[in-house]
Amino acid sequence: MNLIFLGPPGAGKGTIAAIVKDAYKIPHISTGDLFRANIKNETELGKMVKEILASGNLVPDEVTIKMVENRLGESDAKSGYILDGFPRTIAQADALSQMSLVDHVINFVIDRETILKRLSGRRVCKSTGRTYHILYNPPKVEGIDDETGEPLIQRDDDKEEAILNRLDVYEKSTAPLINYYKEKGLLIDLDASKSPEEIFEEFKKVVK
Ligand code: AP5
Repeated sequence: MNLIFLGPPGAGKGTIAAIVKDAYKIPHISTGDLFRANIKNETELGKMVKEILASGNLVPDEVTIKMVENRLGESDAKSGYILDGFPRTIAQADALSQMSLVDHVINFVIDRETILKRLSGRRVCKSTGRTYHILYNPPKVEGIDDETGEPLIQRDDDKEEAILNRLDVYEKSTAPLINYYKEKGLLIDLDASKSPEEIFEEFKKVVK
């Protein structure tokens, strides 16, 4: 099954993708995670995109499309995938349609106030990318990753100024994809304000 998870920053796409990945045995391909891995490993790509990610702006389409094309060419993506955070522009969606057939586009529907609460409380383990929330999904020991014991950090783009910019960028560049995929008959709305367990139950009902 080839899935796109579409939705504003902090809607819970990565959280639900982690559950769906295990349940359906398909890879979770997050363009944000791929960029962050490149930044951590100090690759040429990582150096190019570091400031862009910190500000909350979008990486240029050609760079992002090439990276996704390479990733979808790997063997584990042949039996299906969850694309989380891609496409984010009409140009990216047009490029994807040349690479692969998409079965469903899951649109995470959520209000701005909930997004702000989720992003400002998010903490991550830098080495594994595991995600927590200080209120909704706290680690066993405050500030420490449950499995690696490493200190948790706040993402650079989870600071207030970058969050507000990411929301503006979403409205301007990514929200038009809702109609784009609705017109293709691929869009499924999911109420993302519920708990992860409830969202996953709903997901199973709507995705056959
Ligand atoms: P990316 O990493 O994709 O960031 P994003 O889309 O802004 O998504 P987030 O990771 O912020 O949110 P999420 O929806 O996954 O929420 P999460 O599950 O973590 O992209 C980062 C940057 O990379 C972009 O700004 C851009 O610069 C670049 N980039 C990436 N893709 C690109 C592209 N295609 N083109 C160009 N540039 C690109 O949840 C958030 C918090 O809420 C967590 O703390 C979690 O614990 C909590 N939470 C989640 N679900 C629930 C729930 N149901 N109830 C309570 N709490 C919850």
